[in-house]
Amino acid sequence: MTSEYTDLFRPFAFHNGLTLRNRVIANHTKRPFALGYRISPEEREDGGYRMPDICALVDGLIAENIDYLHVSLNDVLGARPLGADTRLTVEHIIAHVDERVPVLAAGMLRTAAQAQAALGLGLSLIAVGKGLVMNPDWMALAESGCGAQIRQELDLSERKELLLPEGLWQAIEAAPGWIPTIEVDRKPTNVPSR
Ligand SMILES: Cc1cc2nc3c(=O)[nH]c(=O)nc-3n(C[C@H](O)[C@H](O)[C@H](O)COP(=O)(O)O)c2cc1C
Repeated sequence: MTSEYTDLFRPFAFHNGLTLRNRVIANHTKRPFALGYRISPEEREDGGYRMPDICALVDGLIAENIDYLHVSLNDVLGARPLGADTRLTVEHIIAHVDERVPVLAAGMLRTAAQAQAALGLGLSLIAVGKGLVMNPDWMALAESGCGAQIRQELDLSERKELLLPEGLWQAIEAAPGWIPTIEVDRKPTNVPSR
């Protein structure tokens, strides 16, 4: 392990944590068990991680035998590293990983076309978060070519049908804008009698 790598992540007992997890998997699981690691490579504030730090972290994770890397971004198809790099952040990471492990990504993938575009960058898998909250049938809509029906807001008038857990509703209400909402008026319109 290089000193750059240990210096960077010593505060998080990073190496020990992963080694311990690998030992637990080896000793206590009977079936194949995937160990992945999720990174959020978008610390824009002063002193935040930059792309060279992320690449060093990724190399360290792969050296620790992770099975996959999951990249969490604000916007997979829009986020670019600070500085002069013109590539997307996710493209940068895909190129750096260079097929050593599968790379997954999440962030602002709402439509089937966006999902396809993200997969086209070379990702092994994509994750859909809020899109799935707004559309419990997201997969069926995307697969059946009905992508135009994928909603971009959570329809509050469908509160009962959506079957979201109460705790999630509370989180949505506590953080306006986290998941865009609308309330469609579904009352039948009164047709004036003649
Ligand atoms: C309901 C909900 C729960 C989430 N829980 C977690 C979590 O436990 N850990 C985590 O790292 N990210 C969590 N996320 C973040 C998502 O994994 C994802 O990175 C983020 O929502 C961006 O993707 P999206 O634009 O498709 O939603 C959650 C997101 C949502 C909507």
